[in-house]
Amino acid sequence: MMAGIDSSINGCTTSLEDLLTSPVSLPDYSSALSRMGRDVQDNRLRRLYSEACKSDQPKIFLCNGLPNADTLPVVGASFLLRDGSVVELDRTDMAAVGIYGLCEGLPELREWLTELHRVEHEPPQLIRTDHPEPFMLTITNGITDGLRGMFHILLEEGDHLLVEDVIYPNTIGTFQLFGAKPQIVSSDEGGMLAQDLEDVLGTWATTHPNTKRPRVLHTITFCNNPKSNTWEIERMIDIYKVCRKYDVIILEDAAYYFMQFQQRRRGFQSIDVDGRVLRFDTFSKILGAGYRLGWLSGPANLVQKFVLSMSQNTVHPSLLSQLMVNKLLHQWGLEKFHSEMIKLADTYQQKARHMEAALQRYMGDVATWNFPSGGMFFWVRIKGVSDTSQLMEEALAEGVAIVAGRLFSPDQAPKPFIRLSFSVAGVEEMDRGIEILAEVVKKIQGKL
Ligand SMILES: Cc1ncc(COP(=O)(O)O)c(C=O)c1O
Repeated sequence: MMAGIDSSINGCTTSLEDLLTSPVSLPDYSSALSRMGRDVQDNRLRRLYSEACKSDQPKIFLCNGLPNADTLPVVGASFLLRDGSVVELDRTDMAAVGIYGLCEGLPELREWLTELHRVEHEPPQLIRTDHPEPFMLTITNGITDGLRGMFHILLEEGDHLLVEDVIYPNTIGTFQLFGAKPQIVSSDEGGMLAQDLEDVLGTWATTHPNTKRPRVLHTITFCNNPKSNTWEIERMIDIYKVCRKYDVIILEDAAYYFMQFQQRRRGFQSIDVDGRVLRFDTFSKILGAGYRLGWLSGPANLVQKFVLSMSQNTVHPSLLSQLMVNKLLHQWGLEKFHSEMIKLADTYQQKARHMEAALQRYMGDVATWNFPSGGMFFWVRIKGVSDTSQLMEEALAEGVAIVAGRLFSPDQAPKPFIRLSFSVAGVEEMDRGIEILAEVVKKIQGKL
């Protein structure tokens, strides 16, 4: 295990040991699938091409409509890093960019990331050589793409998705695409409340007669967007146990995993004895959002379905992005990657401290907040206001863009919160922005 990762998940609570040594309770994957998940077909032409690419023997390609590399204009590229070093893509790399790649992604990149998971998360599925369900990792176009693909495979019209009371708005839009409805489970600073999840699932037949009990739970476990809390390990264990009991698949959005300000807490994948956790990671927050690159990992049974649907969809994420990121990661190695992630989290922590100073200076009497566990946001409760939608409009009219809590409600419920981002604004901008915001809040509260 790497230094800097919270090791408490490795066994200081008895229940964790109990869980990790308990027999595998293999999910019923096929019964969790939507019609699309059941029906998605292997793209036979792609499969033929993949097999031909994978085998060691030289092949004469007379099968695909591949462009001839000699006709393509770009034959090399170099990417300058901030520290002055360079990532070079040579003629061979660029020839690879010129043709199609494998739907599951560049093999070397997948291997590097799988090793990262082995070291960083120690997933029981990957560590136990006798696990009945293989671990699989595939490259995605980012978490948004990964979630869309898995929602398509797991959810259909009328299904309920288990979610917290506020979540990243894009995700709400994505599951709604498939006609799924949110089933809210209460949570506090430590994460979702296991008793509430038990109550929801245990009473489903009476509370929702003639509807399917939810089979999928969505979480943003680390530095939540918008709440900025990170789940406690004990809470994950309790939630995992309930998911086991009702055979629920967990979708873990790990967008801000590497941005935890303190020792990184590990997530559901580290306790996933059964193979019921699909984890969604992204390069968006750590290398750049425009590369459109992330990765999805978990039980092969379900990850493979995603790859099949990818073959009929975007085919694979940009090979230029994959090759560049792959070279960068190999140049860095795991240790350097790890130290870069710590530097990144420290930078954001500094920015969070600046924002907190401004909040204390101008809004201490009109709002409350917790210092974020990481990520990019303060989730601020405005006193005496039940819906911050008007505040959002009025702040914008004064030149300050914030997000009203209601935008994060899966059920559109109004919220007394606003989300403030400290990722981009400089110290002076932050200070001025919060000063203006405080005046708008006081006007709305009738204190000006
Ligand atoms: C919680 C969460 N998940 C996913 C995303 C989007 O990730 P990606 O760029 O990989 O699609 C974001 C972006 O803000 C986010 O906050």
